[in-house]
Amino acid sequence: MKSLRSILARTIALGSAFMLLGAVTPNNAARAAATSNAACAAVSRLACETAAKLGRGMNFGSTLDAPRDGDYGVRLDPSWVDLVSKAGFTHVRLPVRWSNHAGTDEQAQLEPIFLSKVDSIIELIERAGLYIVLDMHNYRQLDGDPLQPHEARVEPTVLEQRAVNIWRQLAAHYKGRHPKMLFELYNEPHERLDEAAWNKLHPKLLAAVRASDRARMVLIGPGYWNAARALDRLEVPADRNVLIAVHVYEPHSFTHQNAWNGQYTEVLPCCSKSQRAEIEHSMQTALDWSHRVGHPVVLTEWGVNGKAPPEARASYARVFRDAAEARGFSWTWWDLAGEFGMYDVKTGRWDAALLNALVGR
Ligand code: BGC
Repeated sequence: MKSLRSILARTIALGSAFMLLGAVTPNNAARAAATSNAACAAVSRLACETAAKLGRGMNFGSTLDAPRDGDYGVRLDPSWVDLVSKAGFTHVRLPVRWSNHAGTDEQAQLEPIFLSKVDSIIELIERAGLYIVLDMHNYRQLDGDPLQPHEARVEPTVLEQRAVNIWRQLAAHYKGRHPKMLFELYNEPHERLDEAAWNKLHPKLLAAVRASDRARMVLIGPGYWNAARALDRLEVPADRNVLIAVHVYEPHSFTHQNAWNGQYTEVLPCCSKSQRAEIEHSMQTALDWSHRVGHPVVLTEWGVNGKAPPEARASYARVFRDAAEARGFSWTWWDLAGEFGMYDVKTGRWDAALLNALVGR
């Protein structure tokens, strides 16, 4: 259950709430810090540059990560590429439920029609000059989660090999194309895919990519929902083109108020001293780890549920953005038009205050 993520985060938050860690003020020198020197000691120069150049990004979530596009109430629209590019975002993360668009046997052959749909959106993103993070999302059986409607069950014996074969196909398919594309091996491993199991699986996924593409930038997140506090237990492969994906939703009681997990029903404003402390604590944990290990961190998910008060969402976004950028982290807001969205597909309007908090001055 995803709520575990929130329960643990809350426990940790209580411990760290009074620990306001060295407030870092945003400036360009600091911005470079996370992607230079210590944070890049174990990666290639291109990996280091890529981590910095990703900049500010948008998750096209709640579309291709659903069992079928549209099942979460919103459909991927090609016009979004122009929309986010014009707004000033510099990358798009595309979360995809590949497992539901592939054969159910070990080969997991990808459905050609689905793959060409993904290709066409990737081409638009590339043509707009943006970076792309192509992510494997919601292979729910892999995490031991119950299947959702329209999701096919697979034999437990082929679960992991299917993930390997999906990456083998994707890496071969995209080899030599789309130089600004990165692969994120798996979103938020949890439960069945606990930290030990994840440490066994991610090297196999990486090897499947490397079988055809040695240069592709690959993002690997820590186990336990990609939480910063799980970084210490992530076994990072010796690969100079590996970056690290971390998700920061602290404080959960604020970001997930009245959200899908039904855990936090109180309407909360932002940002008190203790709320800021939680945000800073996760980020500083990620930065310190990154400096120790020599791989740059990218915050590929963060955001606030759309039911939180609009002014509180905008305040949170600005506090978060400043804290992230002061540490040199590129980041990706979750998401454009889903439950955590900031663009209304019906009216064609952005949440102007939130957009300004994310990409304004
Ligand atoms: C999940 C979404 C969820 C978001 C925030 C994402 O990783 O795929 O379903 O809304 O995190 O909780």
